[in-house]
Amino acid sequence: MTPSASLPHHTAVVWSRISGEPQKMATLVLSDDRMVITYEESYRASGLPRMSLLDDVATETERYFEYPVTERMPLLPRLRALVPGNNPRNLQRTHYLKALQRRTGVPPPQGIDTEWELLLMGGHGGIGHVDIFRDDLAALDWYDRKPGEPVFAADMGRSGLWRFLREQVLDEPNGLQADDILDIIGPTPSVGGMIPKLLVAMSPGLKDETCYPPGTPGKTEVLLKIEPPEYQGLLSLEALCLDLHAEQDLEVPAYRYFEHQGLRFLAIQRFDQPQMQPMESLFSVIATGSHEVQGMTDVMLEDLGGIFRQLEQVIELKPGTRAELYHRFILAYLTGNGDLHLENLSLLGGKTGCRLSPVYDPAPMRAWARHDLVSAIPFDAEKYQNEAEVFIRLGHSLGLPETEINYIIERSLEGSADYAERLADCAGINDHQRRRLMEVVRGARRAMRGR
Ligand SMILES: Nc1ncnc2c1ncn2[C@@H]1O[C@H](COP(=O)(O)OP(=O)(O)OP(=O)(O)O)[C@@H](O)[C@H]1O
Ligand SMILES: [Mg+2]
Repeated sequence: MTPSASLPHHTAVVWSRISGEPQKMATLVLSDDRMVITYEESYRASGLPRMSLLDDVATETERYFEYPVTERMPLLPRLRALVPGNNPRNLQRTHYLKALQRRTGVPPPQGIDTEWELLLMGGHGGIGHVDIFRDDLAALDWYDRKPGEPVFAADMGRSGLWRFLREQVLDEPNGLQADDILDIIGPTPSVGGMIPKLLVAMSPGLKDETCYPPGTPGKTEVLLKIEPPEYQGLLSLEALCLDLHAEQDLEVPAYRYFEHQGLRFLAIQRFDQPQMQPMESLFSVIATGSHEVQGMTDVMLEDLGGIFRQLEQVIELKPGTRAELYHRFILAYLTGNGDLHLENLSLLGGKTGCRLSPVYDPAPMRAWARHDLVSAIPFDAEKYQNEAEVFIRLGHSLGLPETEINYIIERSLEGSADYAERLADCAGINDHQRRRLMEVVRGARRAMRGR
């Protein structure tokens, strides 16, 4: 197969450091109707993981991988994680849009041309093993930059970064010019999700609150979330839920919650580091394999079992993955997290030795009315008599035996029995949110007990 010719309008190159050394992986060409990835022969021969799990399977025999793009899904799904999230608090998007405007003199128009520029600016050095650049020279320049150049000063309280964060997250004017910001946060890679965040490094064990540039030798790579005022208490709730998942023997990254002069932070150790590993959201895996899936609500909860069965035909998934996935859904329901969507679940590792990533983003979002859903992955409500049945049947569709379903539910009920008390102690959350969440959680426990 060779890719058919349609007029290309954007090109880029893909590199990776997964072998320990930067290495060119592929060339990307985007045209009106498709994105074509052409792998370097040497990279293909190396057997190293390619851009995404399913293209890795497909390109065992082919040098090309083609993905049909549409208005809803204008890029290969895996690239979504490398473009800064499209929301007003995304620090990287704000920063790069300002930089683009400085370059062209006009506000960047909405659309694929701007998204592509954002991909080229922020699509390297982020989470996972895929780095995107304009061309090979840009890649070599970037990998050659001096390690440990200060991205921002370690003393957050007095640094420009501090003023930048206060402006972006608390809407405080700071008098910083656009060029100052570039000096302060430097080439900051894209990170997905709704909450403002930066990739930084901290002392091993996260034993103090000083932040260093990512890649600083001897330090630990972390994702630093910064709480926006519209989600007051979110990060302390997220920390509580990380604890609860860890107590249930689910793998949870080390974290440190801290507050500093009016800002609240959650630093979470990165699990795609220090040994670099491919990481891909379940959404990206599913949408790459099934072109009708172009948005997160295109997959139903009832589809998940079948999707996992299909995946297991082509990739080697760690035994017990479906049971673990189920455990996470039950805990999400019992803790008031209706936001366990397909980008809050990821697979870590290549097509052999693939597993669910450690738990991330278990925040109980039902505390906020606009996120008060039983499940962010839609289900066909008419098919069920009550909420508990949704989750029992999910267990069946995942192929779990009745005994395992019951074991997981009982264990989760037991592990979250004192959750309401722990919520009462949770710092930062206001009474309205606390009451709402307690109500939701009580209802979920009642439903599960009465199943
Ligand atoms: N510890 C980690 N190590 C590596 N990658 C991570 C880690 N935690 C999160 N990520 C990645 O960063 C992305 C954003 O993180 P997260 O989901 O916690 O943010 P969020 O803003 O709360 O998301 P949402 O929009 O779902 O509320 C995740 O989708 C995941 O790809
Ligand atoms: Mg998330």
